[in-house]
Amino acid sequence: MLIKIQNELPEHAITPPEVYAARRTFLKYGLTTTLTLGSGLLSQPAFPQLGQAEDPAKLELTPLKHIQNYTNFYEYSYNKEDSSIWAQNLTLDPWSIEINGAVARPGHYHLEDILHRFPAEERIYRFRCVEAWAMVVPWLGFPLADLLKLVEPTSKARFVQFTSVLRPEVMPNTRRSSMLIWPYTEALRLDEALHPLTLLAFGMYGKPLAKQNGAPLRLVVPWKYGFKSIKAIVKISLLEQQPISSWSLAAPKDYGFYANVNPSVPHPRWSQATERLLGSRFFTPRRRTELFNGYAEQVGELYSHLDLERNF
Ligand code: MTE
Repeated sequence: MLIKIQNELPEHAITPPEVYAARRTFLKYGLTTTLTLGSGLLSQPAFPQLGQAEDPAKLELTPLKHIQNYTNFYEYSYNKEDSSIWAQNLTLDPWSIEINGAVARPGHYHLEDILHRFPAEERIYRFRCVEAWAMVVPWLGFPLADLLKLVEPTSKARFVQFTSVLRPEVMPNTRRSSMLIWPYTEALRLDEALHPLTLLAFGMYGKPLAKQNGAPLRLVVPWKYGFKSIKAIVKISLLEQQPISSWSLAAPKDYGFYANVNPSVPHPRWSQATERLLGSRFFTPRRRTELFNGYAEQVGELYSHLDLERNF
């Protein structure tokens, strides 16, 4: 499927990841403008791309091969390497997203129509899985808030629920009994969904997303554990009541609604105090986990009245 970013994919879509990573370094140091690369527009966010506590000079992009070959996509497999193979059987064209519930403009929106509306932004985000591995990803996407504003949530909307595609014929795990109930769903509070850091991503490293990483469109919420960042979205529902998401339903004591990255709140079976960077060597020391994955300055206010231990 041809995913268009403005007119075409930018020039760097065909740049090898190593060259691309080297070129990116100048962007890490605060360029906040709109770039024209080739025929595509790539607008840079006007807020810090990294956690404030992070020294950008020390932050390295995780190589694409690690991001693409170590994935969690349980509809296919519980094995992180196998899901990359199985996911290739998913057809992406045509793709539409149903938007329903408490919105003034519900409907089935074609993906291409959605992608045409919003300028592509590159966001370099840290990504932290609840399993205590982490990576740094140059995503391509646009703020979820832009799409939500388009469909006009009504005053009743308080939560946003997301649903992943379910195609049992190509998703072996969904044909077996499993702790997860399909389709995979996730949700955010409306203010979390409208936060400028919350992204709908359709690419990474200047290319369309790989199927195993959630093509054609996935959520990225960089201050939350990775299971909130739902892949291959087909439905977005604006709700009055807080819904129960897949992981909270399967194991409520292990996976809460908020899932904010927090070094002080351990998972019942392991500590969250440190993390392993994907692709790092065996002897590389683990990194200290940061509250809200390093984005406390940007998102801390959302939780100022919340007991983070009880609302994990
Ligand atoms: N979305 C769907 N539909 N199915 C999944 O199994 N796994 C989640 C999240 N989104 C998952 C999903 C988990 S547990 C993580 S850590 C991230 O995707 C992993 O994203 P990645 O595989 O692109 O690194």
